[in-house]
Amino acid sequence: MNYFDHVTEAAEWLRGHGCASTADVAIVLGSGLGDCADGLKDAFSIPYTDIPHWPASKVIGHAGKLVCGKVGGRHVLVLSGRVHLYEGHDMRTVTFAMRVIGRLGITRVILTNAAGGISPNCSRGALMVIDDHINLMGQNPLVGPNDERFGLRFPDMTHIYSPALRALADETARAQGLPIQHGVYVAVLGPSYETPAEIRAFRTLGADAVGMSTAPEAIVARHMGIDVLGISCITNPAAGVFPEPLHHDEVMATAREVKGQFIALLEGIIGRL
Ligand code: HPA
Repeated sequence: MNYFDHVTEAAEWLRGHGCASTADVAIVLGSGLGDCADGLKDAFSIPYTDIPHWPASKVIGHAGKLVCGKVGGRHVLVLSGRVHLYEGHDMRTVTFAMRVIGRLGITRVILTNAAGGISPNCSRGALMVIDDHINLMGQNPLVGPNDERFGLRFPDMTHIYSPALRALADETARAQGLPIQHGVYVAVLGPSYETPAEIRAFRTLGADAVGMSTAPEAIVARHMGIDVLGISCITNPAAGVFPEPLHHDEVMATAREVKGQFIALLEGIIGRL
């Protein structure tokens, strides 16, 4: 069985288990944000381990389940937990979930993550709409033979993060009186945090926030013609911004603190779709 067949089998399995292939949007929850799905209405969840071929993450703070439910009258599919390249998975495994979302026919996805803040407006606790990314993971998920059933060999990435969805996020934040930032996300492999010299280099390159996910999923989503909204929760100042060392506990603590705002923003956006 090839990759496309595995993706199709997972999608068919989810359809058979009542996961709305008619979902208006899929949401991927980043580090520490996993339980954002707990407030969904008419919800049921499926552990990743139950879904054929679906990879499960072992990173702390990633629950690893798919939640189907409703928000503001809209059907949503929430992916609570994702697998990362730094765990040793290959790109196809890392983007498997996104492929399944595409095969389910879902046309919009919200990718969320925890990120380190590089620019001054991305301070601890800030929410940043991703306007664009710089992929410094050293790999691209589309490497290898291209399966035309997914998309083109050389897909355009000019509007990888949907201008319309970014505007919708702004409109929602404005209506809620919630300050929101915009910026460029630089994706790195990890799992070590960056050195201060790397962060200075990323700042020079035009990056506002740094993290270890999202870019592969965004590329694959765009490959399939899915509209992408990316939102970073700035959980810590990036390395060297302040003298204090970085710690995963801080990432998780900030995500916990910001979660209420984050959920409100997501609900507002979904309600406006
Ligand atoms: N660097 C990389 N990834 C991250 C960070 C960081 O500072 N914070 C949360 N995810």
